[in-house]
Amino acid sequence: MKNADNKNDHLAAYWMPFTPNRTFKESPRLYKSAKGLYYETADGRKILDAFSGLWCSNLGHCHPKITEAIQNQAAKMDYSTAFNFGHEAAFELANVVAAQFPGDLGHVFFTNSGSEAVDTALKMALAYHRINGEGTRTRLIGRVNGYHGVGFGGISVGGMVNNRKFFGTLLSGVDHLPFPYNPNEDAFSRGEPNSDPMIYLKELEQIITLHDASTIAAVIVEPMVGSAGMYVPPKGYLKKLREITQKHGILLIFDEVITAFGRLGAANAATYFGVTPDICTMAKGINNAAVPMGGVIASKKIYDTFIDGTKAGIEFFHGYTYSAHPLAVAAALAAQEIYDEENIYQRVTENAQYFEDAMHSLKGLPHITDIRNIGYAGGLTIAQRDGVVGARAYDFFLKAFENGIGVRSNGDSIAIAPILTSSRAELDPIFDVLRKTANEIS
Ligand SMILES: Cc1ncc(COP(=O)(O)O)c(C=O)c1O
Repeated sequence: MKNADNKNDHLAAYWMPFTPNRTFKESPRLYKSAKGLYYETADGRKILDAFSGLWCSNLGHCHPKITEAIQNQAAKMDYSTAFNFGHEAAFELANVVAAQFPGDLGHVFFTNSGSEAVDTALKMALAYHRINGEGTRTRLIGRVNGYHGVGFGGISVGGMVNNRKFFGTLLSGVDHLPFPYNPNEDAFSRGEPNSDPMIYLKELEQIITLHDASTIAAVIVEPMVGSAGMYVPPKGYLKKLREITQKHGILLIFDEVITAFGRLGAANAATYFGVTPDICTMAKGINNAAVPMGGVIASKKIYDTFIDGTKAGIEFFHGYTYSAHPLAVAAALAAQEIYDEENIYQRVTENAQYFEDAMHSLKGLPHITDIRNIGYAGGLTIAQRDGVVGARAYDFFLKAFENGIGVRSNGDSIAIAPILTSSRAELDPIFDVLRKTANEIS
């Protein structure tokens, strides 16, 4: 072994993502198996997964139908290139996905992750305008605190400072809208806050005036802020955003990597909010995260522009070796069948009020200064200790794990995302542990 000075040095070779490697490796948290709502740790403890893996294992872990589909596919055809060849199941999946998105969103481009989906969507938007004869539309607009994965496109439109500041000048010509939540006004809102959405959107009109619409390609937003701590935009925000972008010929991209496939109790956020963007990204829940997969769905107008507006040959010079990988597709078809047969979206809708009440029952517990919820997604703000961002929230995350549940901390927030199959009775233990944890941390 190359890195062996003390007992945990065998952990050094794996450089872990988005993890404080130094402290993790002093005291590692290792999972060895997973089934249904639970993980099992290497030392044999059961951990209730209150975060659906990472917003992704929506149907619970190792669902037998998904496992079987992957096993069968691995034995039948392990790989097939997506460049100039296809396999039937990929076309079938694209149809199953397209049927769940509103309006004329109907053409699916497969990727292997959410980050790739975001960069694909941005490239699609830029190329669309160019093919459409509006090549001056090159500017992109994201949002403060937005998370759009870790590719250079995604971190350029993203607005989480630590994800950007180490990496140079990023894409040029990017503006950011304000974060659509004000804790002084919106704290403890149930679902969508009542604030006036124009508080957050008038800056879009100013940006359009400043640069002129003819230079702006697209606006990208998470319909529900996920990674920055689970925040819900105010009522009417997305409708208004759609109106403004449409008026100026600017494409609207919803980054639905978290929200597609049931998190809000609908097939996707576009359906939930009744707002049809031009492009949506997806990943995670598409196949229950059993094999890496993402995708982008585009409107007919965009697809037709590529198909009709380019010369013979390849219309979009973009793609991945593993696009529509047979194992990912097999897992996705199985997952999609389960969402449908077990009425998962409807079940989340039916239990969403129960989840909301349980979230807000935490009000008044020590250190909790805000509570947010939508569908099966919850967010808490944990008061800072001695002005240090995230220190107490991270302790909360560690203590919750010690107490038997997996949640996620980011900055001063704790996010909760129960597995979508969880019944009301199965949600209860999450809240017992959150309560206990809030009372135990200092
Ligand atoms: C909204 C959003 N976009 C993109 C991503 C990136 O996805 P991935 O980690 O699969 O690259 C995430 C991941 O959480 C996300 O929440």
